[in-house]
Amino acid sequence: MTETADLISRYKYSADYVTDYSEFKQQILDKTVLPYQVEFQPPPRSPKKICWLECPYCYGLAAEDNGDRLSKERGIEVMRQIARGVKKVIFAGYATDPLNSPYLEDLLEIAIDNQMVFGFNTKALHVSDRLLELLARSDIAPTSYMSISVDAGSNEVYNAIHDVKTKAKLYDRVVDNIWKITEARAKGAGDFDISAAYLVNIHSHEVEEVERFIRDFQGAGCNLLRFTFPQPPRGIETEVGVVPTHDECRHYREKLEPVISALSSDTCPILLVDADSDHQIFHKPRTVPCFARFVYPTVGFDGWLYHCSQSSAPNFRPMALGNLNERDFWDLFYDYDASQLGPYLGSCAQTMANTGCRCDRKEHIVNTGVIDSVAFADIIPK
Ligand SMILES: C[S@@+](CC[C@H](N)C(=O)[O-])C[C@H]1O[C@@H](n2cnc3c(N)ncnc32)[C@H](O)[C@@H]1O
Ligand code: SF4
Ligand code: SF4
Repeated sequence: MTETADLISRYKYSADYVTDYSEFKQQILDKTVLPYQVEFQPPPRSPKKICWLECPYCYGLAAEDNGDRLSKERGIEVMRQIARGVKKVIFAGYATDPLNSPYLEDLLEIAIDNQMVFGFNTKALHVSDRLLELLARSDIAPTSYMSISVDAGSNEVYNAIHDVKTKAKLYDRVVDNIWKITEARAKGAGDFDISAAYLVNIHSHEVEEVERFIRDFQGAGCNLLRFTFPQPPRGIETEVGVVPTHDECRHYREKLEPVISALSSDTCPILLVDADSDHQIFHKPRTVPCFARFVYPTVGFDGWLYHCSQSSAPNFRPMALGNLNERDFWDLFYDYDASQLGPYLGSCAQTMANTGCRCDRKEHIVNTGVIDSVAFADIIPK
């Protein structure tokens, strides 16, 4: 696969998280399975507010915050444990932002020192000098990436789609930060991708807006731009148009496809991904039995270890793997009865239904792949 094709495939949610299903099953039974990646959602600075924005479409808006935060000392210790065995770490959030954390840079340094591939999902509203120094290192593992969620091509639309009530020029700030990040990458000749993401909805669908975004972020040195549609978030009613209907998605798609294909280039391809239609998962809450905990377990901002990035807040503790403040990462990761895998997966599915978790697209796709393979047919609960 060429580098560009590989990059496009990863951003279309089609990365091969599990390549050999029989081997995957044997490794789960033998307790030799290793996570494909760990998502680390470091805690925010504030003891009161978990994110710097409250985007009306956010998956995690209904996340509970009981004030618990993973301390810096323990967070660093847990990251060191993860680095002993895991090759890839994603710094992201469910209802938080990694760059809003007071010790993100310490975690990133451990990842780079251990030659781990890293990924970021962030709004990049703030980039520290120390972050830029780390991103300027020349020993960053290839295929590392930063994905910056932007969703707009102007200050006005940026504030409207993210429900920012002030006139702050946040869009300008993000463009500026991307320039700083791409300059840091150039300094270290680092081999990592920088992409920008754009959610299309009632606020952001105009052609001129989309063109401005493309011009600004191709100009700032991104290597990929990705358009997609918001999915229904868990546990909240959204205002009309925030999550487009099927018909609206089709309409936006028809309107924007010509613009996108005209401006797409080899150095910065532009994708419009409509995974809900492609995979028939529109509005489906979850795909179970769920194998996420073996593939991409997630450290929540409260210091608990959760099955996945979409079930990583205190309201999901009834189904969590456990408390990292009390037990180590690998101890929790291998804490299941391999001789009772079928019943274990069945009881997890039941707790998941009770807590009401909602898969994101990659989670639907990965669980469906495992279920559809014949490898687990003898143990999958009916
Ligand atoms: C939950 S956010 C967490 C990281 C960071 N705070 C951010 O916004 O990038 C991760 C990604 O999920 C996207 N996202 C949030 N809610 C979504 C939804 N309902 N449908 C589709 N994407 C969503 C965001 O735009 C962002 O790109
Ligand atoms: S989408 Fe990201 S920035 Fe917006 S509220 Fe959710 S976690 Fe925070
Ligand atoms: S949201 Fe999906 S991937 Fe996550 S725990 Fe629930 S069923 Fe599993």
